[in-house]
Amino acid sequence: MYRIKRQEDKEKNYQLMAYMAKRVMEDDKDEIATLANVSAVINGYMDKINWVGFYIMREGELVLGPFQGLPACIRIAVGKGVCGTAVATRETQVVEDVHKFPGHIACDSASNSEIVIPIYKNGEVYGVLDVDSPEFSRFGELEEKYLTEICEALGKQLAG
Ligand code: SME
Repeated sequence: MYRIKRQEDKEKNYQLMAYMAKRVMEDDKDEIATLANVSAVINGYMDKINWVGFYIMREGELVLGPFQGLPACIRIAVGKGVCGTAVATRETQVVEDVHKFPGHIACDSASNSEIVIPIYKNGEVYGVLDVDSPEFSRFGELEEKYLTEICEALGKQLAG
């Protein structure tokens, strides 16, 4: 059994989040189970978010994977939306106001800002981690740093 206990200090809280994410990755090699537990860890530690989950590359497009939040769109073409842009550019997308992002795909009308981080498995884009917030500009350097750490660890774990 895991306990999620948020820390007062923002950076300490994210360090603990990254630590716990790596711990749940060690439990089993099953991809769906691992991604599901990692999404639950992030959801447990991050405040002011309304959606966190994964989209996974399947036959050239992104397909919805394990997540926490409202039901979301299932398929996203590479180059479309924030997620597809992260894949096409192979760059993390930090969007302060999703309403200003050309082609943003709204899955939850409460979302105002978003971060999408590519996950690489053996050098190829495996998928993305997507986190949405009802606040504007919710995701800064600290969030990017620790969420990237989690995505890098995931990529290594998935590569076996
Ligand atoms: N907003 C994303 C779509 C996924 S949902 O936010 C869960 C995008 O524009 O790619």
